[in-house]
Amino acid sequence: MGLYYGGVTDAGGAGMSWHEGLSVGDETLDGHHKHLFLLLEQLAVVGRNGDEHTVIERVLAELQGYIGYHFLHEETWMREKGFHFLEDHQSSHQVIRSRVEEIAERYAADHDPAIAEELAVFLTGWLIHHIEIEDFAYK
Ligand SMILES: [Fe+2]
Repeated sequence: MGLYYGGVTDAGGAGMSWHEGLSVGDETLDGHHKHLFLLLEQLAVVGRNGDEHTVIERVLAELQGYIGYHFLHEETWMREKGFHFLEDHQSSHQVIRSRVEEIAERYAADHDPAIAEELAVFLTGWLIHHIEIEDFAYK
């Protein structure tokens, strides 16, 4: 199985946004994924700029909220379609939810903008991988 990481190594941000190759064939879910990429890009920028921690915290909170919303929507959608790998998918979502929570807590304690940028890069890589390997399974 060929894994394509879509330019994750490019820390400059280019090649880390949504593109047609990431379409899962459902407009709503594609829209969610696009929005997640935008939020992650925003987080990378505020982290890189070392913006006020209140700004970074706001973007982080928005991202966490949206991740929760999207995962729930996706899981409900999969349940309705009788998707076989729902449990695996759910646990993969759960892993990432706690990972993000953990990093957000670290940020809340340190207010180190590098943590925000690191999270953005890590999550973008995860998202691309997750869409291509796991979400594509329901295409
Ligand atoms: Fe997913």
